[in-house]
Amino acid sequence: MVDAKKGTLIVLEGLDGSGKATQAKLLAQHLKEAGKNVQEITFPDYASDSSALVKMYLAGQFGDKPDDVNAYAASSFYAVDRYASYKTSWGSFYEAGGVIIADRYTTSNAVHQCSKLPPEQWESFLQWLFDYEFRLLGLPAPDEVIYQVIYLQVDPAVSQKLMTGRYHGDESKKDVHEKDVEYLARSRNAAEFCAAHLGWETVHCTQGDAMRSIEDIQSEVRKLAQRVI
Ligand SMILES: Nc1ncnc2c1ncn2[C@@H]1O[C@H](COP(=O)(O)OP(=O)(O)OP(=O)(O)O)[C@@H](O)[C@H]1O
Ligand SMILES: [Mg+2]
Repeated sequence: MVDAKKGTLIVLEGLDGSGKATQAKLLAQHLKEAGKNVQEITFPDYASDSSALVKMYLAGQFGDKPDDVNAYAASSFYAVDRYASYKTSWGSFYEAGGVIIADRYTTSNAVHQCSKLPPEQWESFLQWLFDYEFRLLGLPAPDEVIYQVIYLQVDPAVSQKLMTGRYHGDESKKDVHEKDVEYLARSRNAAEFCAAHLGWETVHCTQGDAMRSIEDIQSEVRKLAQRVI
């Protein structure tokens, strides 16, 4: 039984540049127009001081490769940022029954940090991660809430192109994750594993070597969101 007092959490997950922000914004707008009580959240919370360690990590201050910071350390940076935003921004809204649309969540640690470990360690890492964020930190967890992860699946070559476009061709603007193509390929494998094993709903966002239209993807995202709203 879902606790009636608590809210609904819908997470848009996907690799870098897969359209999470674009789809989250459209979904939130649509639900607001339908009269729902909706708050959008996004991780990392760059507007908050709580993302300081994430920023240092992504800027390469602990090493210029993602693997220079191990999966557990890097996950901690993102987890405490999430804890801070839960306490200061969206926790009470959510507890009062609001609908949260999240652009990334704990699921991003699953995707981007699993990829630093050999596949035989993924399950134990995921167990640690969910126990840490959902039980020990007390963030909303899949077994307590209406919680849905929509995985935006994009071919890595297509997302690299989209990101290069966003930075107007300036490769140096990419962060330590974005510029490491080999790491992104590993993250892609981790994302596929997570989607298959953690019950994430997959939306296939590429067709051939191009993205499907934003509207087409959004209509699938809305249908999936509708199931829990
Ligand atoms: N379906 C689409 N077709 C073409 N371009 C798209 C599509 N969806 C998003 N884009 C563009 O791709 C870029 C990345 O999109 P967006 O910022 O929504 O992705 P993201 O997953 O939030 O990225 P990041 O992981 O870097 O935060 C943006 O320039 C966006 O306008
Ligand atoms: Mg984004």
